[in-house]
Amino acid sequence: MSSVPAITETIESDSTMLSALLKSERDLYTENNPNSLALHRKAKAALPGGNTRTVLHYSPFPITVKRAQGAHIVDVDGHQYQDFLGEYTAGLYGHSHPKITQALTRALSDGLTFGSPTEQEGRLGALICERFPAVERLRFCNSGTEANVLALSSARAHTGRTDIMVVDGSYHGGVLTFVGDNPLNAPFPTHRIPFNDLRTATETINRVGGRLAALIIEPMIGAGGCIPADADFLKGLREATEAVGALLLFDEVMTSRHGPNGLHGMYGLRPDLITFGKYLGGGMSFGAFGGRADILDRFDPSRPDAWPHAGTFNNNVFSMTAGLVGLGEIYTPEVAQTFFAQGERRREKLAESLSGLQLPVHVTGMGSMMALHFGLKAPRAPYSPPPGYSDLCELVHLKMMAKGQFYARRGMINLSLPVTDSMFEDFASDLIATLDMCSDAIVETVSP
Ligand SMILES: Cc1ncc(COP(=O)(O)O)c(C=O)c1O
Repeated sequence: MSSVPAITETIESDSTMLSALLKSERDLYTENNPNSLALHRKAKAALPGGNTRTVLHYSPFPITVKRAQGAHIVDVDGHQYQDFLGEYTAGLYGHSHPKITQALTRALSDGLTFGSPTEQEGRLGALICERFPAVERLRFCNSGTEANVLALSSARAHTGRTDIMVVDGSYHGGVLTFVGDNPLNAPFPTHRIPFNDLRTATETINRVGGRLAALIIEPMIGAGGCIPADADFLKGLREATEAVGALLLFDEVMTSRHGPNGLHGMYGLRPDLITFGKYLGGGMSFGAFGGRADILDRFDPSRPDAWPHAGTFNNNVFSMTAGLVGLGEIYTPEVAQTFFAQGERRREKLAESLSGLQLPVHVTGMGSMMALHFGLKAPRAPYSPPPGYSDLCELVHLKMMAKGQFYARRGMINLSLPVTDSMFEDFASDLIATLDMCSDAIVETVSP
């Protein structure tokens, strides 16, 4: 086996102050996390970069988590963190929710994969159709990425058209990443439109016209910075796509947690297709795509013209069981409503504290999902960060980790059900103190 390369993360900032602060923070982090470092180095021998999910890498190396409970995680060096990453929204229920754990334990005793339909999948399917207004029929798969690829392929087959349209800066999975250029993207002929710019979007839709099979959009940009779409933008896209006979696909892999009916329900919009993932599998691997019955019914295998849809683990007992208990018994419409309002309140309070700092830092989001941004104004669309931005994110992130606060390196914060007000207040006050401590580096990096 070849020897393991050293850690080679560079510091990109031109600012001597930011570079010096970051260097000393990295040294401290490395010293405090010897077991995570050793495991990271070992894993690199087999896994490029020591990992198999790009977003889980952050410099100088990520912590390895040993166990988790509720809204807390513990790493292999014995540090406990408040978990505000919430597994990038898949961890809505928190870690090891007793109802989900009990249901999974019961399911284990009956066996795992049967090579047959199960009772749970029919019940979960019915529950999702009942809950989300645009979903007349549904198919399960294994991830949000798979759901989007299948939904786009269905749109192409249904319309007999080739092209798709996406929003710049959006993320629909590893092979559907529209942040910069991704050489691994699925080879659909693709057109890009800017977020929250209805005029350009409508012009582009009209120009592509009869070649356009579907427009896919996150009704709130998630990975690209928790930036909500204007309701009028979404409404305009609904009208413009319909006018040229193209399908509108809402990717609600993250946002279906918003309110009882997801964002399409909240805005009273009816996309033709909709995709799900993340928390809807109760913490197990999960994906689903659904929408109009006249499109989805082509997957009915008893039809002579049926479309095929394979997937060994599409209806696996674990995902179906955990998803069913989660949506049916824990994240009821009433809980979803309260949770959304609670998230709104918490974000607004954080925004108020941030504005008191008078630094170029903002928080955007909706409900239980939010993101921090360094910049002169809160963004209305995904943006290209200025030089030094990622070093600044790293500095604040490492300092927050040293205080026992865990969130995404890029600034994303996702609340889970077990997060209490006092946990959030604790997080917010650590964040304010950290930003205050880094204020000179922030101003220097962000200034025009
Ligand atoms: C909006 C959106 N769509 C699709 C995906 C892909 O889901 P998965 O990671 O389950 O493939 C993600 C994942 O973060 C996402 O945020």
